[in-house]
Amino acid sequence: MNFEATPMQQELRELTRKFARKTIAATVEQDEHDGTFRPEYIRELGSLGLTGIPVPEAYGGAGLGYQHYIVTIEELARVSAAYAISVAVTGLPQVILSSFGSEEQKQKYIPKLAAGEGVGAFSLSEASSGSDAASLRTTARRDGDHYVVNGTKLWTTQADSSDVILLMARTGGPGPKGISTFILEKGTPGLSMGKREKKMGMHISHTMELVLNDVRVPAANLVGNEGDGFTIAMSALDSGRITIAAVGLGVASAALEVAANHSRERQQFGKPIGEQQGIQFMLADMAVKLDAARLLVQRAAWLKDNDQPFSTAAAKAKLYATDMAMSVTTDAVQLLGGSGYTQDFPVERYMREAKVLQIVEGTNQIQRMVIGREVHQTREF
Ligand code: CAA
Repeated sequence: MNFEATPMQQELRELTRKFARKTIAATVEQDEHDGTFRPEYIRELGSLGLTGIPVPEAYGGAGLGYQHYIVTIEELARVSAAYAISVAVTGLPQVILSSFGSEEQKQKYIPKLAAGEGVGAFSLSEASSGSDAASLRTTARRDGDHYVVNGTKLWTTQADSSDVILLMARTGGPGPKGISTFILEKGTPGLSMGKREKKMGMHISHTMELVLNDVRVPAANLVGNEGDGFTIAMSALDSGRITIAAVGLGVASAALEVAANHSRERQQFGKPIGEQQGIQFMLADMAVKLDAARLLVQRAAWLKDNDQPFSTAAAKAKLYATDMAMSVTTDAVQLLGGSGYTQDFPVERYMREAKVLQIVEGTNQIQRMVIGREVHQTREF
């Protein structure tokens, strides 16, 4: 077993860190306040080779695995969870098409996203279909060499700036077997943005309602076969959960850094508060949980990169790393006292960012369901 970062992982960390701390950090607080997303940052990340890390070089990616991808996602999340999620969500259509797309679809859609020249989105949820993803109602009816799509999707991250949206719709009967996946291009007639959600945090990352009114999608944009859509969505979410876990690592690391610095600088009772055992115990618990989460995330990434089953490992990593991020950011706010609750320090933002990580790409209750189903079948631990 080797815990040392490879030269490539170190290079990725330095490259991402430099861009995030210089460019994104300069605007993140104001943009978070204004709700401004900057697609130019995705283009710049793309020109650094950071928006297509896990897809093959043949399609413009870096041809590296998730063990590398999580390094970049974590570094971005230390500065902005919103841009980390933007890169992860732009990765989803690339990862799906790499595995399930036709050669023509791969060549047409992956290179632009991998180069950061376009933003991607993944649209599964609806008003009455969240955790119960198989109950979605948006329909896609075959009409000659097109499908006609009708319905309303919810919670689609960055749909308003996306060039390519991977959308799940019903082509058959009820349940998971009736679902198919389609590639939708920006500007397709009948595709429009509904409301933009007003959220607790992550204002840079726009969460959109998508309205589909007789949208004609070429049959060539069906991914795989009719009825494959649920399996495609689930396998994409398995991979996506590793990246969300990595976002949790980044947010928690940033919070711990602020808390540890504050504990050295803040004097009370004639000495730095970090010399009080109560504060040291808090910092110790935060550091242990962060390390444990990192190991779970790295293991899930290793399993994926080595073509081993990783669905449960990804669920464990997502569950633990995002619960850890919630706990560490909450403790960071507490450790800073009144200051932690103000916008003079970033920890209140980190706390709001951590909260959504427990919800996206499957709530942590759904992760427990996935893990619990496997534990139920396991005889030896
Ligand atoms: N990989 C491949 N196939 C899978 C799978 C996986 N991980 N999980 C299930 N399947 C297959 C099953 O094998 C089964 O196929 P067969 O019948 O051929 O065996 C089929 O899918 C149905 O499986 P289940 O009976 O397990 O399905 P279910 O209805 O019980 O649902 C669930 C399982 C885990 C609860 C699933 O619905 C789920 O993950 N829900 C959460 C949805 C979610 O994560 N939403 C987030 C959306 S994206 C987002 O957050 C925002 C964004 O912008 C990215």
